[in-house]
Amino acid sequence: MARTDLVGREAELRALVRAVEEAFRGEGSAAVVAGDPGIGKTFLLSVLRARVEELGGLVLTGRASEFEERPLGPFVDALEAHLRSLDGDLLDELTAADRVELAALLPSLDVPATPDAPDATGGRRAGTPEQRVDGYAAIRSVLEVLSRRRPLVLVLDDLHWADRSSLELFGYLLRRPGRARVLLVGAYRPRQVDADLAADVARAVYDGTARYVEVQPLDAAQTAELMGVGDGDSVADLHRVTGGNPFYLLTLSGATTRLGGAADGLPPAISQAILAELDRSGPARGFAEAAAVVGDPFGLDLVGWVAEVDDESAYDLIDRLVRRGIVESGDVPRQFAFRHPLVRRAVYDALPPGRRLVLHERCAAGLAELGAPAPDLAGHLEHSARPGDLVAVDVLTEAAALTAGRAPETAVRWLRAALRLLPAAAGREPRLRLVRRLPPLLAALGRPEAALDAAVEALGLASDDESRVELALTCVAIEQGLGRYADAHARLVGTLEGLDGGELAVSVMIAMVMDAFYDRDAGAVGTWTSAAVAEAERLQRPVLSAAAHAAAAFAHALGGETATAQAHLGSALAVLPTLTEEDHVRRLDVLGGITGAELYLDRYDDCIEHAARGLAYARAAGDLWVMPTLGPAYGTALWVAGRVEDSVRHCDAMVEAARAARRPETTAWGLFNLAFAQAVAGRLDEALGHAQESLTLAESRADSVITTWAGAVLSFVECERGRPEAALETLYARCGGPGLDGIPGGWRTYLFDTAVRAHLALGDHASAEAAAARASARAEAVGLPFASALAHRAQAACAHAAGEHARAVEEALAAAADADRAGARVDAARARVLAGRARHALGDEGGAVVLWTEAAEVLDACGSVRFRDEAERELGRVGRRPHRRTTVGSGAAGLAALTAREREIADLVVDRLTNPEIARRTYLSTKTVESHLRNIFRKVGVASRTELARLVDAER
Ligand SMILES: Nc1ncnc2c1ncn2[C@@H]1O[C@H](COP(=O)(O)OP(=O)(O)OP(=O)(O)O)[C@@H](O)[C@H]1O
Ligand SMILES: [Mg+2]
Repeated sequence: MARTDLVGREAELRALVRAVEEAFRGEGSAAVVAGDPGIGKTFLLSVLRARVEELGGLVLTGRASEFEERPLGPFVDALEAHLRSLDGDLLDELTAADRVELAALLPSLDVPATPDAPDATGGRRAGTPEQRVDGYAAIRSVLEVLSRRRPLVLVLDDLHWADRSSLELFGYLLRRPGRARVLLVGAYRPRQVDADLAADVARAVYDGTARYVEVQPLDAAQTAELMGVGDGDSVADLHRVTGGNPFYLLTLSGATTRLGGAADGLPPAISQAILAELDRSGPARGFAEAAAVVGDPFGLDLVGWVAEVDDESAYDLIDRLVRRGIVESGDVPRQFAFRHPLVRRAVYDALPPGRRLVLHERCAAGLAELGAPAPDLAGHLEHSARPGDLVAVDVLTEAAALTAGRAPETAVRWLRAALRLLPAAAGREPRLRLVRRLPPLLAALGRPEAALDAAVEALGLASDDESRVELALTCVAIEQGLGRYADAHARLVGTLEGLDGGELAVSVMIAMVMDAFYDRDAGAVGTWTSAAVAEAERLQRPVLSAAAHAAAAFAHALGGETATAQAHLGSALAVLPTLTEEDHVRRLDVLGGITGAELYLDRYDDCIEHAARGLAYARAAGDLWVMPTLGPAYGTALWVAGRVEDSVRHCDAMVEAARAARRPETTAWGLFNLAFAQAVAGRLDEALGHAQESLTLAESRADSVITTWAGAVLSFVECERGRPEAALETLYARCGGPGLDGIPGGWRTYLFDTAVRAHLALGDHASAEAAAARASARAEAVGLPFASALAHRAQAACAHAAGEHARAVEEALAAAADADRAGARVDAARARVLAGRARHALGDEGGAVVLWTEAAEVLDACGSVRFRDEAERELGRVGRRPHRRTTVGSGAAGLAALTAREREIADLVVDRLTNPEIARRTYLSTKTVESHLRNIFRKVGVASRTELARLVDAER
C-alpha cells in the first residue's frame, strides 16, 4: 500500500522549521521551496503547517492556478478570508492611507473608506508602478499588524503560475525583510518560474534574508517506503522510471505502464494513468472535464450548469470523482479542487479543441447569468468568443479597465483579445478607443517599445486634432525615454506644422522647449520658450501661461541662466493661485516645471511644497511619469532641507516603483537620488551599491544627464568613503572633465566642493585651489545662495588646509549664512563644523565648541548621522561630551537600537566566536555577518569587538 504520511524530507523540514523559528523571533525572513512538478513541495508545506501551529503560529496559504490569472490571486486567497473573519479593529491599526490602498487591492474586503484620507484617485487607478508599490506597502503593513497578534507564516504556492503583480509583491516583500514576526514562504517549479523572481530570490539568499530549500527526488529506499513494499527489483525499476518523483510513483501505483518522456512537464504515461483512472469513474469524466475548464478550485453549481446535469446528478458525479481521488472538497462549501494541479492539467490537455471551446463558451454564459464581474468572464471569452461578438468586446474592455490597477499585464492581454474580436467593419473609432488604452499600461509594465508601437498605431487611427496631439506627445515622451531624441524632434515638428495655434500648439511648443534642452540647443530653448509664452498669453488662458512659463523657468535654470529663469518662475507662480485642481490634473507640467526650476534655483522649501502637490495630482491623474521631474526634485529638496530620512524613504519607493515598471532609465534616475540621500544620511555601503547600480544601468543606455549625475553621486560617495582617488577619477570622467560641464545649473558647485575635499585628501593643494576657483566662478555666474554656500565652503577648506585659518573661518561662516538663506540645513551645519575647526586652530576653543554643538544638534535632527558624528568627534577631541541624541545612540542606548538579529550576533561576539563561526551558527554568509557587525559598531558607537563585548557584558 502506498503511504499517505511524509516519507523522508527531514532536512528540508528542519530548514523550514528553523526559518519559522527565526521569523517568530522577529527576524522576519523568507524561505523558498523549489522543485519539479509533483516532487512534494505542497505536501511538505502541509506538514510544516502542523509544526507552525505547535509553535503557536498561524499559517495562511494561497496558491496560483494554471489557467486563471487572477490579479494578486495567491495573496487574495491567503489573506481575504482570514481578514474578513477578524473583527474590525485590526483595520484600525492601519494608517488611513494604507486602508485606502488595501480597499483598492482587495476590493472584496469592503474596507470602509475613511473621510480623512479619501482615495486621491477617486477610485480610478491606472495601475502605475507607484500605485502598485503603495499597495504592496499596505499589504506589508497588514502582515505586520496581523503578526502582532500571532506570528505568521504566509505561504504562496505555485508561484510559477502567479500573475505579474503577485510576483512583484513577493519580490517586494523579499527585499524588505523587516522585523515583524512573519515568514514569507514561496513555492515554485524553478524551471518554469519568472526570471525576475528567480533573480530576486537569488539575491535574498545571497544576502542571507531567505533560505532556499530544494526538494529532491526520493531515493530508492524512500521509494520503497512510499510504495509500502520492500526493496527489490520492482522498486528499483519504479525508482528508475519515475526518477523518484512521488506524484508519478503514486499515480503509477497499481498501473503497470512503463514510463517514457520528459522529466519536465507531464510524461505521457502519467497523463494516461490519470485518464485511465478517470475513465474508471464512468460518466464522471465529462463532469471532470467541465470542472477543468471552470477553474481550480471550482464551484460545484457552475460545473453542473456547464456540464448540463441537474443537482442530483452533480452530487453523484462529484462523489465518484472524490472516491477516485481525482478531486477533493475545498475550503469553502460547495467548492472542490483537483487533487493535484497535474491532474487538472492532464484532464484539460486531453480535451479535444472543439469540446474545450464549447465548455469555455458555456462557462462564460453561466457566469454572465450569475452576474459575475467582467474579469471572471474574460478568461473564458478569451478562449471562446467569436470574431465580431461585440458583447464579448465590451466585457473584455470592462474587465481590462477593472484589473488595470492591479494587474496591467492581464489588462493588456484582454484588450488585445478584444481587439482581435472587433469586426473589420467596426471602423476606426472603436479600435482607437481600445488601442489608446494600451500605451500607458505597456509603459507601466516597462515595455516602452511595445508602448510606442501601440501609441503609433493609435495615432494612425486618430482623426481629431486633440487626440492626434495627445497621442503624438505620448509618442514623444516614450521616444525621449528611449533616448531617441531625433525621432521625438521630427515628430514634434510634424505635429506642430498641422496646427494653427491654440492650446494644442502651446502644448507642442512646451514639449519643444524640453526637446531643445535635451539637444543642448540653448538658442532653441529661448525660441520655443518665447513662442509658447506668446501664444499662451494671446489665448488668455492662465493655465497655459503657467505651463509655458514653468517650462521656460526650468530650462533656463538648468542652463544656469538664473535671471531669466527667475523671471519666468515669477510669472508662473503669479498665476498659480488662480488655477483649479482640474487645471493641475490636466496640466501636470505646470507644477512639474515649477518644481524643477525651484530645485535648480535653490528654493528648496517651495520645491518640497509644490512637488508634494504635484505628486498628489499626478497620482490622481494616474501617471506619475508624465512629469518625471516631480519625484526626483522632491527627493533632493527633502534632504537639502534637512529631512534626510524622508528623502531616503521617498527615493526608495521611487526606485521600487521604477523596478516594478522595469524601466531601467527611470530606475537609474531613482537610484542616484536614493544614493545621494543615503550618503547624506551616512549609510555609505547602501549608497555605494545604489550609485554603482545607477551608473551601470545608465551607461548601458544612451549617454545622458543620468550618466553624469550617477557619476557625480558615486564620486561624492567615494569621497565620503575615504577613497579620494576613485572619487576624482569618476568625477572627471563622467561629469565633463575638470570644468564639470555636464552638471547643470548651480549644482555644479556641489561637485566642485567634493573635488576640493578629494584633492586636499590627496595633499594636492594646487588642484584643490583650482577646483575652488571654478566653484566661485560658477557661483558668481548663477548668483544663487546654495551655489554660493558651496563655493565659500570649498574656499574655506582650501584656506584651512593652507593654514590661513582666519580666512577659513570667514569663508566657512559665509558658507553657513548662504546655506541658511537657501534653507539648506545639512550643508549649513557642515560649513559650521569646518568653521569650528578653523576657529579651534586659531586657539578659540570656546567659539569652536559653540559651532560644533550647534552643528551636531542640527545634523542629528536632520538625520545626517555621519556628519553629526564628525561634529561630535571634534567635540570629543576637546573633551566635550556630545549632546543628547534623539536617534540611535552609542553605548547602552545603541544596544537597545539593535535588531534581534544584530543582538544575536553581538551576543555571539561576546562568546568570542569568529565571524565564520558566527556565520555557521546563524546560517548566514560570512559576508552578511560582516555587514551586520559594521552596522552594530556604528549603532553602538564602538570600534572593536572587545569594546562591544565589554558593553554587552556590562548590560547583561
Ligand atoms: N515525501 C513524501 N512522502 C509521501 N508522499 C509524498 C511526498 N512528497 C509528495 N508526496 C505525494 O506526492 C504527490 C505530489 O506532491 P505535491 O503535490 O506536494 O507536489 P508539488 O511539488 O507540490 O508539485 P507541483 O509543482 O505540481 O505543485 C502528493 O499527492 C503528495 O501527497
Ligand atoms: Mg504543489
